[in-house]
Amino acid sequence: MPPGPLLDTLARPLGNLRLSVTDRCNLRCGYCMPEDDYTWLPREDVLHFEEISALVDIFIALGVDRLRLTGGEPLVRRDLPALVRMLAAKPGLADLALTTNGVLLADQADALRAAGLRRITVSLDTLRADRFRALTRFDELAAVHAGIESAHRLFGRIKIDTVVIKGVNDDELVDLIEYGKGVDAEVRFIEYMDVGGATRWSTADVVSRSEMLDLLSRRYGAIEAVAHQSSATADRFRLADGTVFGIISSTTAPFCQSCDRSRLTADGLWYLCLYAAAGTDLRGPLRRGVDAEELAALIASRWKTRDDRGAERRLELGDRRSFVPINALRKDPHLEMHTRGG
Ligand code: GTP
Ligand code: 5AD
Ligand code: SF4
Repeated sequence: MPPGPLLDTLARPLGNLRLSVTDRCNLRCGYCMPEDDYTWLPREDVLHFEEISALVDIFIALGVDRLRLTGGEPLVRRDLPALVRMLAAKPGLADLALTTNGVLLADQADALRAAGLRRITVSLDTLRADRFRALTRFDELAAVHAGIESAHRLFGRIKIDTVVIKGVNDDELVDLIEYGKGVDAEVRFIEYMDVGGATRWSTADVVSRSEMLDLLSRRYGAIEAVAHQSSATADRFRLADGTVFGIISSTTAPFCQSCDRSRLTADGLWYLCLYAAAGTDLRGPLRRGVDAEELAALIASRWKTRDDRGAERRLELGDRRSFVPINALRKDPHLEMHTRGG
């Protein structure tokens, strides 16, 4: 009899792997990288594409069927389409997606499509050039628009992720929905999270899912909930004209109970939760020549003992400050959201 799916202590399968291909980024969004300087992963530690591919084979054999490339900004990793080509060729993958800030997308969309990438999500928090510069410290809004247009042309329907912050961009929800209609994108509004790296986070800056729905129903009238896919991050909603959008409510209504995601950092540490204090080093054993079977046993044993529900635990705390103090981030860059893959 074939073995059943690998389950953790909350009966969650190992299904979705987020591969961070670099910890570097070409923007400095205030909710993720607000500091002036960062401790980067040593270059020699960063996995080669062949190493990533070998690890992915093991994960697929253990049940992973959805991959998402993240960063930092994944498109700053040189020759990313070559990695996409290696991953796209693997049998057993139901999904191969990319989350990008879009700045370099217009140049690379063709090559990514040709290499076999299936889906693209672009992060975009504002449609106003002055605000974009204030939020990200770079003047790249036009490049992001060009990236979104290329992605739409080559990939069809895409997703746009917007982190909503009180007093910063919460007056743009309607504009973003309207923009999404024009470029055939499903816009998803994300509650501001107190993840590592969000050193300026405060409860007062969070716009909750229910506040977002109130804001939007003032303009659009009745909003209908769309049936939820169990392991999805976003709750989806439909406006009267049929437009579908999403809200990712990790802060006020976390979805840990159905979380089948884990994360591999660019230097080969495997994290079982966005909020996990420590990860499992897979680079070390891989580079020492430990065979695939032994690596698979290590991964399986870790997943079986997984009891993480980081966002729920944060919510239970009540009085919350930012999760990781800046000194701890400097000592261990793995605690950063931009290292774990947003
Ligand atoms: P789809 O498969 O297209 O729904 O992708 P996704 O929502 O899983 O991936 P995406 O990179 O678009 O993630 C959107 C945002 O959801 C992230 O930037 C995070 O803010 C949040 N998010 C993603 N994964 C997790 C997770 O495992 N836990 C929590 N709490 N939030 C997550
Ligand atoms: N809160 C919510 N989402 C965040 N991201 C990064 N930092 C945060 C945060 N503090 C997510 C956003 C962004 C992606 C790269 O990471 O979705 O679009
Ligand atoms: Fe999964 Fe951790 Fe995010 Fe909860 S906080 S949804 S357990 S990654």
